Amino acid sequence: MAHIAHDPHARPDGKTTMELGAVLPLTAEVRHDHLFIGGVDTVELAQEFGTALYVMDEEHIRVQLRNYLEWTRYHWRDVDVVYAGKAFICKAMCRLVEEEGCYLDVSSGGELAIALAAGFPAQRILAHGNNKTIRELTECISFGVGRIVVDSLEELARIDRLALEQGTTQPILIRVTPGIVADTHEYIQTGAEDSKFGFGLRDGLAMEAVREAIALNGIDFKGLHMHIGSQIFALNSYAKAIEVIVHFMEEVRAKTGCVVAELDTGGGLGIAYGVPDEPATIKQYGKVIVDDIKEHCEQHALPVPRILVEPGRSIVANAGVTLYTVGTIKHIPGVRTYVAVDGGMTDNIRTALYDAHYEPTIANKAARPRDTVVTIAGKHCESGDVIAVDTPLQHTEDGDVLCVFATGAYCQSMASNYNKQVRPGVVFVRDDTARLVVRRETYEDLMRCDVE
Ligand SMILES: Cc1ncc(COP(=O)(O)O)c(C=O)c1O
Repeated sequence: MAHIAHDPHARPDGKTTMELGAVLPLTAEVRHDHLFIGGVDTVELAQEFGTALYVMDEEHIRVQLRNYLEWTRYHWRDVDVVYAGKAFICKAMCRLVEEEGCYLDVSSGGELAIALAAGFPAQRILAHGNNKTIRELTECISFGVGRIVVDSLEELARIDRLALEQGTTQPILIRVTPGIVADTHEYIQTGAEDSKFGFGLRDGLAMEAVREAIALNGIDFKGLHMHIGSQIFALNSYAKAIEVIVHFMEEVRAKTGCVVAELDTGGGLGIAYGVPDEPATIKQYGKVIVDDIKEHCEQHALPVPRILVEPGRSIVANAGVTLYTVGTIKHIPGVRTYVAVDGGMTDNIRTALYDAHYEPTIANKAARPRDTVVTIAGKHCESGDVIAVDTPLQHTEDGDVLCVFATGAYCQSMASNYNKQVRPGVVFVRDDTARLVVRRETYEDLMRCDVE
C-alpha cells in the first residue's frame, strides 16, 4: 500500500517535544518530563478521562479567532469571520465562537442542530452543502439562518418556493467556482471548474444563477461565495481567485445593474502538521484577502463589499491533540517497528485518506529526544490504519501515553464507529483546568439506534 511504503530516509530527529515548534498548541509546555497543555498534565488527563482522547487548547482557539478578526479588520472594517464548523463542532465550540464575536458555517442539518442547541443565533449562521435536502433547506429557512450559500439552480428554485410558502424571503450567497486550482491535495481542492461545488464562470452558469436570484421573490441576493480548497500555503492562489471573482462582480453590475454587496472568500489557510511546514500567517492572509479585494474593486470602480472569511482548520488544528495509550509494539527486523495505539483510523482518518503527516511525542517522556523511528498504527482491521509512518519518537514502552499533535481539525468531525469502536471524548483545557465537553461514547451508544 502506497501510504505505508517504507521511508528509507526516516531518521530519529533527536527533537524534544518543545522543539516541534508551530505544530504545538500555544500553551504547550513540558514540566518534569510531562507534556502540559492549558496548564494541565496530559498524562493525568489520559488517566482521568481514558484514551483515546481529544484535548483542545481553548486559549489557542480564542487567539486564532481574535487574530482573524484583528488582521482582516485591520485593512477593512466591514469583515466578518465565519468559523467553518466542519473542522470541529460541538456545543462548547459553538459557544466559544459566539463569545469571540464570530459567525458560524454549517454544512448539514446535524451541524445546524448542534449550533441551535448551543444557543448560537441563527442570523449569524451560513448554511453550506452541494446537495442540501428539502428538510435541511426548510429548517434553515424556518430557523432564520442568516445566509444560505446556493450551489445549484435547482436549489435556488427550491429555496424560493420554500421561502414563499413560509411567507418570507431568504438571504443567499451564490457559490462560484473561480476556476483556480489551489496548490493542495486534490481531495481538498474545490475551486477548479471540474468540481461538484458551485457555479462555473466560463460556462455562464454563475451569471445565470445571479440573474435568477435577483428575479425570484423568495430570494434576497446578497452576494457571492468562493472556496478554492483547504490546507493552502500559497497565498497567490487566493490572489488569483479574487481577481477573477471581482471581475465577475463587475460583469454582474454591467449586465444586471446589481452591485454585489457581500463577498465570502471561503477558508483554506494551511497549518503546520510537520516541523518543516511554514504556512502563511493569519496577518499575511488577511492582508492578501482584503487588500486584493479593495484593489480590484477600485480598478473596476466597485464599492468594496462586506467581506466574509471562513477559516476552519487554521482555527482548531494546532489547538488539538489526541492522546492514546501505547499497547503492542511489534519489531519486524529489517522492515519497521509498529507501535499500536488504542485508536486509529476511527478517530483520525486523515493519514489513511490522504497521506496526512503528523508529529507525535510520548507525553510522559516529553523532555527526552525522539531517538527512534517507528510507525504508529491503529487497532483497526485495515493495513492502512496508520497515524504516522516512519516517524521519529522517543523510546516507547507498553503503557506510555502517546500524543499526536495538530489533530484538532477534521479528526473528531470525521470520526467513525468502524469495528464498533466508541468515539473518544473531547476535553477543553484552559488556565490549569480541564472540562469534559464531549463524553466518550459507551457500548450503549453503539446500540442506541438498533430497534430490534
Ligand atoms: C465552503 C467551505 N468553507 C470553509 C471551509 C474551511 O476550510 P479550512 O478548514 O481549510 O479553513 C471549507 C472546508 O472544506 C469549505 O468547504
